[in-house]
Amino acid sequence: MSEGGPRRGDTAAFRSLMSRWATGVSVVTATDQGHDAGLTVNALLSISLDPPSVLVSLMRGVDTLPVLERAKVFGVSLLSASQRHLSERFARAIPSQEKFEGVAFRRGTTGVPLLEGSLGTLECRLVSMTEVFDHFLLVGEVLGLELGREESPLLFYRSGYATAEGGDRLQLPPAGR
Ligand SMILES: Cc1cc2nc3c(=O)[nH]c(=O)nc-3n(C[C@H](O)[C@H](O)[C@H](O)COP(=O)(O)O)c2cc1C
Repeated sequence: MSEGGPRRGDTAAFRSLMSRWATGVSVVTATDQGHDAGLTVNALLSISLDPPSVLVSLMRGVDTLPVLERAKVFGVSLLSASQRHLSERFARAIPSQEKFEGVAFRRGTTGVPLLEGSLGTLECRLVSMTEVFDHFLLVGEVLGLELGREESPLLFYRSGYATAEGGDRLQLPPAGR
């Protein structure tokens, strides 16, 4: 990286480059004193196997963050290709309670909402929270997991949704982004 980090003008190039990094899509949820919150997250990474742990990166200011910080536990639902509407719903800037309206979910043993029909779900204990620039990196130790549907995953690539039918043929978003 050049001295002083990337110039402001490089932000678009950085976004464009990172959009070539295809990811899965998840919904991270938390609940505190009866208040459910959740958001769409593709910055999810598995860290260790022993114990199993994951990292999620949340933007400063998202509504889910303070709820998660108080609850000290969070859920992760890995979305299938048929759950694109849930990715869109949980990415919307609407009040937390509206996000869950009409959505089929169950409560995990920690009380977090876990979305039905997902590829799988995790329940995590918040182990650390580190502020890095405009994001918070949250590490969670996996307390419980459930394998869900054997389906194609929902993918995010070049700022759009993609699916991998049969696991090998990618259905890509329109080119030119
Ligand atoms: C595919 C996709 C992936 C996203 N990944 C993240 C992410 O990793 N971290 C994050 O903070 N926001 C991410 N977002 C944006 C949040 O979902 C969005 O800002 C949401 O409205 C925040 O909800 P909240 O304020 O109710 O918590 C993503 C959005 C989309 C569509």
